[in-house]
Amino acid sequence: MRICAFGVRGDEVPYFQRWAARTENTVTMHPDYLTDQTLPLAAGYDGITSFQTVPYPSTVFSGMQQLKLRYLALRNAGYENVDLTAAAHHQVRVSYVPAYSPRAIAEFAVMSMLYLLRQAGAVQTALHDADYPLAKTFIGRELGDLTVGVVGSGRIGQAVIQILNGFGTRVLITDSHLPKNLALTFTPVSFEELLRQSDILTLHIPGDPENTNLLNEAAFAQMKPGALIVNTARPNLIDTAALLTHLRSGKLGGAAIDTFEHEADDLLQLAHGETFADPLWDELLAMPNVMLSPHIAYYTDTAVKNMVEQALDALVAFDQGVRVATELT
Ligand code: COI
Repeated sequence: MRICAFGVRGDEVPYFQRWAARTENTVTMHPDYLTDQTLPLAAGYDGITSFQTVPYPSTVFSGMQQLKLRYLALRNAGYENVDLTAAAHHQVRVSYVPAYSPRAIAEFAVMSMLYLLRQAGAVQTALHDADYPLAKTFIGRELGDLTVGVVGSGRIGQAVIQILNGFGTRVLITDSHLPKNLALTFTPVSFEELLRQSDILTLHIPGDPENTNLLNEAAFAQMKPGALIVNTARPNLIDTAALLTHLRSGKLGGAAIDTFEHEADDLLQLAHGETFADPLWDELLAMPNVMLSPHIAYYTDTAVKNMVEQALDALVAFDQGVRVATELT
């Protein structure tokens, strides 16, 4: 099979090469996103794999149909940037990689909690200001003494609960989807109760439209004074303006944001050679009790290997007419 790969980073290349050698398929790699402009690079290939958080325009799917390209394998889990209706309309079959490494994201979420609890940002800021005595004054809190609300108990949420259980943390989950894993310890409560009782709230739900701005003005208002927010899930889950209001007032104690609300727009700006400019981002970045990261919670060697291999395996399965369990269309 001849595969055209878009959005390829250097760290993915060895995994692509090893897979191609092992399976005797051909992969041509491009660093660019899949867009109307780059799609012609895939002419004559049998399938496409891509990795991007910016939108796939519906015209990409009409273009694929014209080029007789029938398979698109995303190398990631989120697909709210993909117009699946357009894909189906143009007879393009799309797959994703829903579980490349739940543990990667769970570990990052817990690391973020520890960073905020130990006020690591304030310590670093003081040290950068050469104020060693001040840097010694930021007392921490212990994860094992606290209550963490885990919103979303799928694979990633469960991995978070498993780690938190090791810390002795009291874990609340929302009662809508109870995990079947009996080895986990947690207390199911309503979402409102979870807001009221959590010292830390961590999000692990998809970016479906009904979840947009789940954490908004009203939700933040119900939370405990000093509560911490962790979002390693999707950019649309938090109303950032409302988050900032509550951080400015000191009602919220801090936040760790790996998936920033406007990341797609900001990335597109960068892709067009413009400067990354976002006043909300800049304000968050200046706050020592906020940890920002550029959507990298997933980014481990294990995850990248699985993303590449599982996406490519899906393309071969499409091509061979074998059922693809991770098909979205
Ligand atoms: C995903 O797998 O959807 C992610 O959030 C990781 C990545 C696209 C940056």
